Amino acid sequence: MAWMDYLREIPDFPEPGVLFRDVLPVLAVPDAWREVLDSLEQQVRPLGAHVVMAPEARGFLLAAPLADRLGAGLVPVRKPGKLPDPVFRERYTLEYGENQLEVEETTVLKGRRVVIVDDVLATGGTVKACAHLAERLGAEIAGFAFLIELKALNGRSRLDDIEAPVLALERL
Ligand code: PRP
Ligand code: MG
Repeated sequence: MAWMDYLREIPDFPEPGVLFRDVLPVLAVPDAWREVLDSLEQQVRPLGAHVVMAPEARGFLLAAPLADRLGAGLVPVRKPGKLPDPVFRERYTLEYGENQLEVEETTVLKGRRVVIVDDVLATGGTVKACAHLAERLGAEIAGFAFLIELKALNGRSRLDDIEAPVLALERL
């Protein structure tokens, strides 16, 4: 079976009207997990990134093995209150709610090419916040990569003002 066959879709979670796409079951199946990482690696490698950046929590799971395959660094972007000061902080809105993301101001990213990776591109708020953090650290955005892009939520258009390719293994 292809990796998409293990994707779980849950209606009305975490709120009524939201169709939640759960990628975690894909990771539990060795062949499917390897297929995901192989495809991501193939798409992302030409971007020539020095560093993979990803938002907590599901982004971490993809970014760490991908960075290792690419020989790149890894910058995990955290949810609020987890990192010691000084931090750069960006507020963003989600399909369901609002949150903040943080990165340590001392992260060495100046002049580095960064690819931002996450499991799902929905409204784009999460990765846009990551991109702003990367820019505040002096990085250049090499691109964005997702397992799944939810076309109806139009997150891609929210990234229009950032001149970088937006890659997705599947567009639903
Ligand atoms: C989910 C998903 C993406 C984000 C996409 O994360 O993993 O990171 O939403 O939404 P957006 O494009 O509208 O910003 P979420 O913060 O719900 O939870 P997680 O900690 O499990 O990754
Ligand atoms: Mg997430």
